[in-house]
Amino acid sequence: MSARLHLGVFYPGVGPQFLWDDPSNAPHTEIDTAVAVARTLERGLFDAFFLGEGLRVRENRGRVHALDIAGRPDAITQLSALAAATSRIGLVATQNTTYNFPADLARRLASLDFLSGGRAGWNIVTTDNAWTGANFRRGGRFPHERRYERAEQFVEAALALWSGTAEVARHTDLVGLRATPTVPPSPQGRPVLFQAGDSDGGRELAAKYADVVFSANTAYDQALAYAEDLRARLARYGRPAGAVRILPGATVVLGDTPADAAERAEDVRRRQITPQRALAFLEQYWGRDLSDHDPHGPLPAVEPVEGELGPSRGTISIEDRTGKLDRIRRWRELAEAKKLSIHQLVLEVQPRQHGFVGTPGRVADEWAHYVRTRAADGFVISPHLLPATLDEIVDRLVPELQDRGVYRTGYEGTTLREHLGLT
Ligand SMILES: Cc1cc2nc3c(=O)[nH]c(=O)nc-3n(C[C@H](O)[C@H](O)[C@H](O)COP(=O)(O)O)c2cc1C
Repeated sequence: MSARLHLGVFYPGVGPQFLWDDPSNAPHTEIDTAVAVARTLERGLFDAFFLGEGLRVRENRGRVHALDIAGRPDAITQLSALAAATSRIGLVATQNTTYNFPADLARRLASLDFLSGGRAGWNIVTTDNAWTGANFRRGGRFPHERRYERAEQFVEAALALWSGTAEVARHTDLVGLRATPTVPPSPQGRPVLFQAGDSDGGRELAAKYADVVFSANTAYDQALAYAEDLRARLARYGRPAGAVRILPGATVVLGDTPADAAERAEDVRRRQITPQRALAFLEQYWGRDLSDHDPHGPLPAVEPVEGELGPSRGTISIEDRTGKLDRIRRWRELAEAKKLSIHQLVLEVQPRQHGFVGTPGRVADEWAHYVRTRAADGFVISPHLLPATLDEIVDRLVPELQDRGVYRTGYEGTTLREHLGLT
């Protein structure tokens, strides 16, 4: 088989993709739901069950963003339970390098890897948002580039501990430890390293260390440009182009016909962007409380607070983080020209996570094209319903992928590293 697609699921925690109010959803924080989902994914021969990390519930202008609250149990704890209830699927924990400590996190990840028989992955993030920092002594004061410097030193220390080096010592202003390995190596040696974070610093970290990138570049042209950029960076570190699997985040809406799928996708978007969410979206840009505005009324007449985006920075894509006054001026013109309310405007302008919408055959064709042209090696799917979205993908999309020869028909190995075809 020449091109192989790898799939993971970003199990819902917080975030706008998920339709919390749908009565069909299983309670997502219950372990029974996670177990049932992980087993469905094993039936669908997925590579990985993936958990994000949110150390505080999301906030908007210093207040809990009630529309996003869901809570996230600690990822490693949750994955440890899944390790006992599953046998093949990879178990990937997002864990930040900014507020954790290397010897402690390396030990916990090695434990998950060992106890799961070599199925653990670590999604390395730096967690660039102020509200997470507020939980910790460092607060939000640790600047972006220094986070990546610390991330690099952190990963180096973890790798040294996992390599079995008798004693690992680091003494810099960012990382200090003198530690010895404490956990036996798993069948895959060490956890598979994922990376998420799209800035130059994030991409460099991926090029140096990652086995897999959880990428934010999903639309085809963006995905291809990202893949080419990453491959060039890999070459600079003397790593072969195939050393890293690139898995963009994706949403999927299937339908019996193209029109049916499009209608379902539009319904999902309307339910994701509620009138309250639309107001909260504008508040991020206006930098002020807009709760006294009617989301079905015109855009706020009041001017935005000057200055760039603050506490919500980590949830807004890089290209949207600058030039906010220009953006707001364009929104005003658009709303004026089309007579749009706040809610209608946000439905038009809020960036969409690139979604795949179509019949199972059509989406399978699209995905096969991505992997055959090396724009991506697969996807990490964010479901909007649990378990319905995933049942549908496993039952309807997976067979189409198999028919096209781009997806496995059985697990060949037992470790996550083997599933991913990493040497
Ligand atoms: C696809 C993707 C998934 C992410 N998931 C998480 C997460 O679960 N928890 C978290 O704290 N940060 C997460 N991040 C944010 C990163 O921690 C990082 O702080 C953020 O992307 C800013 O770094 P950057 O400027 O390099 O993009 C994610 C980022 C991306 C691109």
